[in-house]
Amino acid sequence: MAMERTLLLQVTLLCSVLFASYVEAQYPGCEKESTLPSNVCYWSQGTLVGKIPPGPCKPDCEFVIRQPEFLKVIGSSPKVRVLVRTPALEGGVYYPDKDEFYFSTVRFNESQFKQPSIDVKKVNLRTRQITSILKNNPPLGPLQALPCGMALDNNGHLIVAFQGSNIIPGSIKKYNLSSTAEDKLIKNMADNWFSMPFNSPNDVVVKSDGSIWFTDPSYARAQGLKTTSSVKNMVYKIGLDGFVDVVANGFSQPNGLAFSPDEKRLYVTDTGYDTGRPGEFDIMQPHTVIVFDVGRDGLLGNRRLFASVGTYINFGGELDIPNGIKVDTNGRVYVASRDGVQIFSRSGRPLGLIKLLGASNIGFGGKKLDTLYMLDGKSISYIKLQAKGAGLKYATKSSF
Ligand SMILES: *[C@@H]1O[C@H](CO)[C@@H](O)[C@H](O)[C@H]1NC(C)=O
Ligand SMILES: *[C@@H]1O[C@H](CO)[C@@H](O)[C@H](O)[C@H]1NC(C)=O
Repeated sequence: MAMERTLLLQVTLLCSVLFASYVEAQYPGCEKESTLPSNVCYWSQGTLVGKIPPGPCKPDCEFVIRQPEFLKVIGSSPKVRVLVRTPALEGGVYYPDKDEFYFSTVRFNESQFKQPSIDVKKVNLRTRQITSILKNNPPLGPLQALPCGMALDNNGHLIVAFQGSNIIPGSIKKYNLSSTAEDKLIKNMADNWFSMPFNSPNDVVVKSDGSIWFTDPSYARAQGLKTTSSVKNMVYKIGLDGFVDVVANGFSQPNGLAFSPDEKRLYVTDTGYDTGRPGEFDIMQPHTVIVFDVGRDGLLGNRRLFASVGTYINFGGELDIPNGIKVDTNGRVYVASRDGVQIFSRSGRPLGLIKLLGASNIGFGGKKLDTLYMLDGKSISYIKLQAKGAGLKYATKSSF
């Protein structure tokens, strides 16, 4: 009798466990929604067998949670707002002295090429006024030099990666933001490696020792600006002696890069999946974030996969393109992707998504570096976070 009862109890327990796991499999996490702000929701893994597509629990949510830690980043009432509507694709540099944000626009096709929007510009974060700073610099103008990624160096000078064209070689240049002169160029930092022109320098970061690190994919060729590449698509460093050295290769298209807050790691995104030709993707190429350890000698080692970036939003079977990358003071990694800003823990665990279609690059700004500015090609949006940006030596050293 006692045994029968135990058996019955076991069967009942088993059934309730099975029922619970069925509900979980259908909408894992979704049952917790009620405790969240209305624009935030959980991610549902879905199931191919059950024909439930993966995706956010609610189709209209603006923030998708993978891990509870994501809520510590976005806070209790997150909101993405538009700062300005203007062509803004790359860069994303906060200049604390004047509360300005610098960005660049790049060419996609012949018709855009003719528009004077290809430039380095700044937006004043208080007045939202936009000013062009490059104008006719370098001499043949931004239309041929094609500014792309940017960073602030430790003296508050702007470092710009120029993709270059068949007419002007790709380069890394330094500008004086406190100068009122029309030509703010301080120095052409590099335009070759052992006399080989770069393919098309894309993004750049400055280490606290003053060395300048940049990626050199070959998107200029894909965009029809260049006929040939002369070297592989590699990652370079400009040392304090001014010499240019390769620090990493083995990439399809190295793109965004960022150091961890302690500078013991370097993250590099590889966007090889994006061929650079509109609508053409190569599934055999990476859409990844690669991480290296940075040795005391400044050499990179222990190359490994940090994240293979999938998409939270269904793009009809297309995968995501991890472009610009930044880190916060906790070592979390923020990756601008086509579905928005994907955030990862220091160990590479996906935490969640700030939805913003077409996000290409990002930059922390504001006096506390707790506002994330996001570029998507046609506008600059922003969100106030609980997290704070890292890696801005100049900003953190400045007076506030
Ligand atoms: C080029 O860009 C312009 C502006 O966005 C767009 O109107 C036009 O359709 C594009 N042309 C091609 C061939 O993609
Ligand atoms: C930058 O411009 C300011 C203001 O004109 C000037 O005082 C300073 O010397 C310049 N710095 C460099 C490195 O050229």
